[in-house]
Amino acid sequence: MHKALNSSAVKPISATELASAFSQETPQNICNRATLQLVPFARLQQLGVELYIKREDQLNPHWGGNKFYKLWGHITDYRKQYGTGQDGKRVPIASFGGAWSNHLYALAAVGRELGIPTIGIVRGEAPKQLSATLKDVREMGMRLHFISRANYQQRDTFTLRSQLQQQLDVSDSCGEVFWVPEGGSGIAGEAGCRVLGEVISSQINDSGLNIQCVAVAAGTATTFAGIVAGLDSNLSAVAIAVLKGIESELHQTVQTSLARAGLTDPKELPDWRVCGEFHCGGYARFPPELREFVAEFEAETGVPSDPVYTAKLLWGLVKLAERGYWPPGTGVLALHSGGLQGRRGYSLDVPSVG
Ligand SMILES: Cc1ncc(COP(=O)(O)O)c(C=O)c1O
Repeated sequence: MHKALNSSAVKPISATELASAFSQETPQNICNRATLQLVPFARLQQLGVELYIKREDQLNPHWGGNKFYKLWGHITDYRKQYGTGQDGKRVPIASFGGAWSNHLYALAAVGRELGIPTIGIVRGEAPKQLSATLKDVREMGMRLHFISRANYQQRDTFTLRSQLQQQLDVSDSCGEVFWVPEGGSGIAGEAGCRVLGEVISSQINDSGLNIQCVAVAAGTATTFAGIVAGLDSNLSAVAIAVLKGIESELHQTVQTSLARAGLTDPKELPDWRVCGEFHCGGYARFPPELREFVAEFEAETGVPSDPVYTAKLLWGLVKLAERGYWPPGTGVLALHSGGLQGRRGYSLDVPSVG
């Protein structure tokens, strides 16, 4: 169905580089590796819009992307509290996700490389057959614990977390668990993603590329908030929400995050906006027109996207361009936020590393 997937222009991160990234003060070096690539796509070219993509997915097709930066923030906090993970009490990191969670996948991979035990609290009853994602995370050493959907709703509460701590055998760490919110959201996640915004700005400035707007897919908008905080004020930024009916909630999340980071002067910030019209029916929905779009985009550009995030981002960008959202001559940079391992849930292939 697809043309050969884009040959890698970005050098993938090795396990050693991944491990050493967490002992550095910033994940900037890794972020610099994912260059800004011009991706000619006829439907945008006809409208005079130039598309660039920052191929974070190519750093690792399974866990590369925004998850790495969010985890970088959380694991930096973990290490401040507990050391490297190989010494002392080996406090596990626990987090939440569904059967195809990119976040649990990335956490399991990073935990394995850093020697930190990980626990995945999974939404829903244990299935007879695990998804490919959950099989992988278990192979990487993550312990899985399934909870009902009703309990999952309580995932951010102290009560549920203390109950889980009782149920899980965490005697190795004297009962302690380091909790990371679902999807790696929160202050630490935003801080890690701010580096993405800073690096994108310097990549644009250093390269002199014709880019005026940075576009990002948004689930919790943690990534977008961090990017907006890090971008130069002469750029603009647009988030494409992948869930239905959460536009104003995401707007609020970004505002709160910027205020927390002390960024309240609009003159110091890029002009930013959350678009709520391109969720294609809701979270993880992949209607036929989106599937066709993904196939068309891949066949023409060689860039694979995941159905949940980057597909909707690219789809939204084309729709916005068709409405004349950008004047002809504008360059738009889309962040490829990874998540390609999740393609398996839609019977799509995952490109190999390198
Ligand atoms: C591949 C991918 N892209 C984008 C996002 C959205 O990130 P956020 O929840 O920070 O908006 C996620 C979720 O973490 C993701 O897995």
